[in-house]
Amino acid sequence: MRPQEIIAKKRDGGRLSEQEIDVFIDGVCSGSWPDYQISALIMAMFLRGLDRAEQEALTYAMLHSGSVLELSAIAAPKGDKHSTGGVGDKTSLVIAPLAAACGLAVPMISGRGLGHTGGTLDKLEAIDGYNVNISPTEIERIVNVCGFAMAGQTDDIAPADRTIYALRDATATVPYIPLIVASIMSKKLAEGLDALVLDVKSGSGAFMPEYEDSLALARELVETGRKFKVRTEAVISDMSQPLGRFVGNAVETYECIRILRGETEAAASDTEALSIELTARLLNLAGLADGPEAARMIAADKLASGEAFERFRRNIELQGGDCRVCDDPDLLLPRGVEESSIKAPRGGFVSAIDTASMGNAIGAIGGGRTRAEDSVDHAVGYACTAKIGDHVAEGDYLGVLYSRGGDGAAQAADRLARCYTIGDEKPLPLPLIREIIS
Ligand code: URA
Repeated sequence: MRPQEIIAKKRDGGRLSEQEIDVFIDGVCSGSWPDYQISALIMAMFLRGLDRAEQEALTYAMLHSGSVLELSAIAAPKGDKHSTGGVGDKTSLVIAPLAAACGLAVPMISGRGLGHTGGTLDKLEAIDGYNVNISPTEIERIVNVCGFAMAGQTDDIAPADRTIYALRDATATVPYIPLIVASIMSKKLAEGLDALVLDVKSGSGAFMPEYEDSLALARELVETGRKFKVRTEAVISDMSQPLGRFVGNAVETYECIRILRGETEAAASDTEALSIELTARLLNLAGLADGPEAARMIAADKLASGEAFERFRRNIELQGGDCRVCDDPDLLLPRGVEESSIKAPRGGFVSAIDTASMGNAIGAIGGGRTRAEDSVDHAVGYACTAKIGDHVAEGDYLGVLYSRGGDGAAQAADRLARCYTIGDEKPLPLPLIREIIS
């Protein structure tokens, strides 16, 4: 079957058979489908839709495009969390060591920045030498030593998603539930997990900003986990503003190391709270705690005791990174970049933030990718000083942009200033966690 026949069928609204989906995924992995044909089919899927059976067939084919991790020699329950993507959404860097310190084995396979959102792998690579390209054997060895490993997809693990994910990013085909489900679940199911917690974002920085869409996505993800016999829960969390203080690769890693060191600033308290909550849900799901409240206490204790931090240090060593960032997180702060302050054009309350636009502004100056093969500039980013509900006077700082200067920086600064809505009324506080789907 030639690629163009499958593309034409979906282009015209047809339903793809399992066999056609298998041919597509084989073509992605063997390289016999060039990027333009893969992108064309993805766009046709995005525009014409996939039904539940096609979504499951795609998930299955992508999962089996590589091998499933074999971690049966590790006695601890295996668990992981995955986010649907947000801005300043950095909790993986806290959750993996924290869950490991609580007794879970965490073979975390993550992605790179996608669309307007950042990616865990790009954040980790802000640490000099940190290697995310590790084989399943190395993942097992590292999980055995420090309880968790953080890796990207390789030729062995969900390789189809690696290619498709990068092309979706470059072709504006990310926000579609069946593609998100297949992408996330193929990676996560390849980890051979017992428990999985999904952080489904809702609000202006999510791929699907509307609450109803987040709910539908959460339900599809949980249902897929159930089908593949993994205990799965979804937490719908707020993404109507960036999470924590920083947006950008190195600065987000900095924020996480400070949290692990027990030095959480007030502006990063939501990052810490969400990390503890998601870890607790995971512990509870994996049977390592007697209910959610007990799980929260275990997670908070392991963070406060520094055990999670020591796990992180050990992991950096094992994955080839420069551990000096643990003792001196300031090494991650931007150097040799230009700082521009973004100021409030009027006084009032910050009532809304266009978070996706904020992510795109940072992406455009190098924090993210324009083409799949681009590399990112780890040093650029944004410190978010004013959050929703804060009162600002005219001229007060809303945030600080770290850039390489030039026209790009001026455009990003202008775009960032336009992300804020300032009103006269104090908006109602937003709950960090909106709903749990079990
Ligand atoms: N995260 C993923 O891994 N895949 C998506 O499609 C969206 C978010």
